[in-house]
Amino acid sequence: MPDYKLIASQIEALAEIDQDFVPVLSNAAALLDEAMERINWVGFYLLDKGSLLVGPFQGKVACVRIEIGKGVCGTAVEQGKVLRVEDVHAFPGHIACDSASRSEIVLPMRSGGKAVGVLDIDSPEKARFTQEDELGLAQVVAALEKVTDFSRLRL
Ligand code: SME
Repeated sequence: MPDYKLIASQIEALAEIDQDFVPVLSNAAALLDEAMERINWVGFYLLDKGSLLVGPFQGKVACVRIEIGKGVCGTAVEQGKVLRVEDVHAFPGHIACDSASRSEIVLPMRSGGKAVGVLDIDSPEKARFTQEDELGLAQVVAALEKVTDFSRLRL
């Protein structure tokens, strides 16, 4: 199990240099990719003019734009809650960017009371993400929400 608390504090330390969402989220994706085993994609989709636009990530080439309410990411934004999908093949409307993905966790991020995007992590293993991962990743998202400057987004 990764030390999610350590990752959250590393994100906060890096953000002391610059809070802009590009460097903060890029380094967050890199930290998570290094720390988490059995994942094949980790990154961000960010609100842009009413839909989700791919942001900083580690992994294979990804879908560029996702409508709110579509796929696991768009559904998580619409419902404003974490979605932990044990088998993506059983999720209606799942968007397969990397055909190796079997399970997925998506955590919405908010700033100033508004949805700003999601943290999305995919795994080639069914039911990869546990309740403990969800709690740890929620700490990471809380750190990101606290320190990241999302003001350049085109909400
Ligand atoms: N599977 C996601 C799309 C993004 S990729 O996993 C990187 C979804 O259904 O929203």
